[in-house]
Amino acid sequence: MQLMIANLDRIRLGYDEAGRGNGPPVLFLHGFPHNRGLWSAQLASLSAQSHCIALDLRGFGESSVAPPYSMDQYADDVAAFMDKLGIDRAIICGLSMGGYVAFAMWRRHQQRVHALILADTRATPDSEEGREKRRSMAQLARDRGSVAVADAMMPSMIGERTRESAPHVVNAVYRILTSANVAGIVGALDAMRERPDSTPTLATIDVLTLIIVGEDDVLTPIADAESMHRAIYGSRLQVIGRAGHVSNMERPAAFNHVLGEFLSVVRHT
Ligand code: MLT
Repeated sequence: MQLMIANLDRIRLGYDEAGRGNGPPVLFLHGFPHNRGLWSAQLASLSAQSHCIALDLRGFGESSVAPPYSMDQYADDVAAFMDKLGIDRAIICGLSMGGYVAFAMWRRHQQRVHALILADTRATPDSEEGREKRRSMAQLARDRGSVAVADAMMPSMIGERTRESAPHVVNAVYRILTSANVAGIVGALDAMRERPDSTPTLATIDVLTLIIVGEDDVLTPIADAESMHRAIYGSRLQVIGRAGHVSNMERPAAFNHVLGEFLSVVRHT
């Protein structure tokens, strides 16, 4: 995949693009502390039927490491990116933190959202204890770098059964996590800590929505996905068996299958 760069007003965003197709492209938003590489199996497979774009949020991958950091800012960056590429509407697919950005997209740039895919994410904000953990993680990043953050996150990032059965997935996720930039990590931790409650947003969503969750996800468990499913009218819920938080990397064929089915529904609706 050839790295592409979009130069926006103040920052640049790295992205991968694959496939063609009529209608709105699928815009993939990665989680924390990942980068667009999280989505390589989706681009490889789904580009046969859809125009797919995976971008690096600011502070990650090949994008500028530049404040400010907030969910609103990430969403505004995505909208500016769409302007730059001449994309009017997109199917927004966000995993975990990418889902938090998708909610901000819906609040701020609703007319740009054609459909939503919310993978291994949740609508609720951080608890006070969760906020405190973000502060400690930021301190860990500043003191000991991205490898220490990766080591701290890996046990919950990947499902237990994947850890036992698929070392190549563990290695691929670890490579992404350890390559993250410390300032980008700290910025994203601040942004996640301060993110608003998206629960009231759910009832306002009136585009086709697919919710996906790994059966073994301990960071954003099935109960979070079920709450979103109940609150988003007409949404679909798909559980990916034997997968944890990065369900798209852990069981790519199963993930791509449910995503592909949803994309054909979106295309024919
Ligand atoms: C992610 O995968 O984006 C993060 O685990 C989300 C979070 O920590 O809330």
